[in-house]
Amino acid sequence: MNPYTVASLVINAMIICILIIRVSRKFDRPENKLFLLFPVLLMMSALCIDLTSELNAARIYGDVFTASAVHMTGLFLKLLLAYIVTIYSFALIEITESSHRSAGKKFLLAVPMFLALIIAILNQKYHLIFWFDSSFVNHAGSFDFLYYLIALFYLAYAFLLLYRKRIFISRTTLYTASILIVFSAAGMLVNSKLHIVNFDIFVHSISCLVMLYVILDSTEMVRMLTKKNKEVTEITQQTIEALTSAIEAKDAYTEGHSSRVCEISCKLAEKMGFNEEQMQNLYYAAMLHDVGKIGIPKEILDKPGKLTAEEYNTIKKHTLIGERITAKITLVPEIHEAARWHHERWDGKGYPDGLSGKDIPLVARIISAADAYDAMSRARVYSPAKSLPEIRQEFIDQRGKQFDPYIDDIVVMIMDEEHPELTRKAQHAETESA
Ligand SMILES: [Fe+2]
Repeated sequence: MNPYTVASLVINAMIICILIIRVSRKFDRPENKLFLLFPVLLMMSALCIDLTSELNAARIYGDVFTASAVHMTGLFLKLLLAYIVTIYSFALIEITESSHRSAGKKFLLAVPMFLALIIAILNQKYHLIFWFDSSFVNHAGSFDFLYYLIALFYLAYAFLLLYRKRIFISRTTLYTASILIVFSAAGMLVNSKLHIVNFDIFVHSISCLVMLYVILDSTEMVRMLTKKNKEVTEITQQTIEALTSAIEAKDAYTEGHSSRVCEISCKLAEKMGFNEEQMQNLYYAAMLHDVGKIGIPKEILDKPGKLTAEEYNTIKKHTLIGERITAKITLVPEIHEAARWHHERWDGKGYPDGLSGKDIPLVARIISAADAYDAMSRARVYSPAKSLPEIRQEFIDQRGKQFDPYIDDIVVMIMDEEHPELTRKAQHAETESA
């Protein structure tokens, strides 16, 4: 076997092993593991090309046509790898810039690939790229350069794209990739004259691999974005907590109320199978459900004893004020939905709109139950705190009246889970009354 072939295979195998370890360590998401296909395709391409080098071809393949088809498959796979790298770079830039490239541009990128495929098919008959003579000696065809040019175009384009868009690339990767791409081009040019069999394949493969390293480097960028994302979430949380403190500063009764409602709502949502994003939105909505109280006079909020009908009507307005305050937070509609509708009732007797049943947004229905639970468990100036069995009974009585029956059942279920003695007491009371 030609020493360059051996070198190519050994180095390819080594790099593939390193890559597989690196890829599996760096990419935790299962869809990214698909990228492991890359080294596998590369290995197949290298094998196809190396096993059709003249000496092997004569031994392995009975006829020139089969050897030629296998060799062409190898070349095509190699091109495909370069194409995948470019497409991947495109996608990466779309993600980081949140922009969508025109379909036309993407189509243009696919044109050289189609061209290469057509050349590959035609090569079998017209020997455009290469051909084997009857002694299985490989000769370059007249369009040999075109095939390498397409591969180089993809590699250079992907590289340029990543570099220009400032996708994180380590300096080592940048230099290595540049040197190998230059080598690859040189290999292509001197290939036929210097008879260095597989030189270009060898360098091309490494170029492909270096491109993959470039992409792996970009995981660094993903990490940076994740960190930024976390910071933004934290700032949002802190802002919401600050707003909640503003509500609580105004209304002594609400001290700790928002976070307790939030905690209960999240418990309910967990049982209902909310995903991470839904949970996050529910958290924001629950924390801010009473934000409208900022617009209610303090003397009414703090008034000891029963409220007059007029004062009660003023208090009710906190739902509308809350919606006005939060209307501009359009990214999380649950916030203004909860602010406006957390005092609606399943039977339609609530306020401000008298919505009923599933017309009330789900988040508002959850927060309404949590809000009532917290209100019942706290003593007010005019009403003492209810005991757990009393709260449980209230939820059973209000099932389908004040509360969504489904959510109501979950409240009772959670209470029974957390306080198993409640069920025993309830059963005891039932048998006694029977
Ligand atoms: Fe409220």
